[in-house]
Amino acid sequence: MSSLTRRGFLATGLATVVAPAAFWRSAKAEDGTIELTAKPFEKSIPGGGAPASTLWGYQDQVPGPLLRARQGETLRIRFRNELPEPSSIHWHGVRVDNSMDGVAGLTQAPVPPGDTFDYEVNLPDAGTFWYHAHTKSWDQVARGLYGPLIVEERAPTFTPEADILLMLDDWRLDAQGRFDAASLGNMMDWSHAGRLGNYLTVNGMTSPDISVPANTWLRLRLINACNSRILEIDPNRFSARVIAYDGQAIGEARELDYAPLLLGPAQRVDLLVRFDTPGPVALEELSQSSAYRFATLNVADNETRQDREPTLPPNLLPAPDLRNAQMFELLMEGGAMGQMSQLTYNGRAQTRMDFMANKQVWGFNGVANMADEPFFSVARGQSVIVNVVNRTSFPHAMHTHGHHFKLLERNGQAGDEQIWRDTFLIEPDGMAKIAFVADNPGKWLFHCHMLEHAAAGMTTWFEIT
Ligand code: C2O
Ligand code: CU
Repeated sequence: MSSLTRRGFLATGLATVVAPAAFWRSAKAEDGTIELTAKPFEKSIPGGGAPASTLWGYQDQVPGPLLRARQGETLRIRFRNELPEPSSIHWHGVRVDNSMDGVAGLTQAPVPPGDTFDYEVNLPDAGTFWYHAHTKSWDQVARGLYGPLIVEERAPTFTPEADILLMLDDWRLDAQGRFDAASLGNMMDWSHAGRLGNYLTVNGMTSPDISVPANTWLRLRLINACNSRILEIDPNRFSARVIAYDGQAIGEARELDYAPLLLGPAQRVDLLVRFDTPGPVALEELSQSSAYRFATLNVADNETRQDREPTLPPNLLPAPDLRNAQMFELLMEGGAMGQMSQLTYNGRAQTRMDFMANKQVWGFNGVANMADEPFFSVARGQSVIVNVVNRTSFPHAMHTHGHHFKLLERNGQAGDEQIWRDTFLIEPDGMAKIAFVADNPGKWLFHCHMLEHAAAGMTTWFEIT
């Protein structure tokens, strides 16, 4: 991943001490409907007396409130838009009904300022998910419109003290420590590695201290909410093993035999770990030249010892029928240092003027951004294999809406049968083959989750009839 620019995260000495459950204000409402109001609010990102920025958030907080429900339940959300522009909410990784997917312009009209939209989010899978704005995502998510969504297993496996949520985001701050709104939409970012921040927060805080019990199996849920940054983490540094990717449990906990683990934009990983001695444990991000401690787990003494290792029941997803699958090919092109082939945009060949005006610099199969025609259209229940070829000089984080898939193959090497994902990383000049059962009818996006790349052309859709 050498093509990522590495701007050092600013180091600060500020630390916040929190109990994990305490700072997550869970959203609740009397009649079972949760209100999520998006609006501008003031917050200092570094904290500690640094100047406040105008951010956009749900319920005046970043991340937005923790949504927590049980597998099989339906979340009812009343979204209220008090932003100066239209918006909508997407439930990332949740196999929702298509009309609730939140994609402005494809599954719903964007919600105008002053208006509301009622989402009914059915939750077939337990696991770690998140929600975020899906109207001008590159701008609205960067400003703070995102939050965590946890779906509990039917039988709870971890106690609340042992269930630790870590939602990471990199912010681009100016020299005063303010959110750098002026640099949103920067052409350099759109044509290169996307908008990379220079300041990393966890749950909206600077390197928080989180108290956890000793002798207890902990579940660490990591969510990458960065617009474009691939986070690098080495679970072996603190003896953690992987139990889920992108919300989907993998069965046996796994020790990684490589490092670091790359956590692309929108990806999640759940880790299992138990600390037997009290004291601090540093969690570090490794994409910079020196490791950045993004959080500290403060292991506190605990008499009772939990010996039996918990396991998560995997969700039931349909296995693709590879022999009868339909195959599709997606060629990713464009960007800086890539081959700039002629792109079609809005149904016609893009001119140099369009290029300057619309910043469309990436394409899928020669088409920049949404077209009237889907990438493919299949009947419900059809198994699909998509062969993705990355002919660009950048890594990408490809996301399928409404479906998790198996990675069959990456650069000629067989993938892992056990793993379901909703977002996969593809390296420069790499290839990846994914497969899934197209079982959820509707119109679904397939895009790069580096939000600048998505806006600059790397967005298409498929249809299930
Ligand atoms: Cu996380 Cu199209 O989105
Ligand atoms: Cu990309």
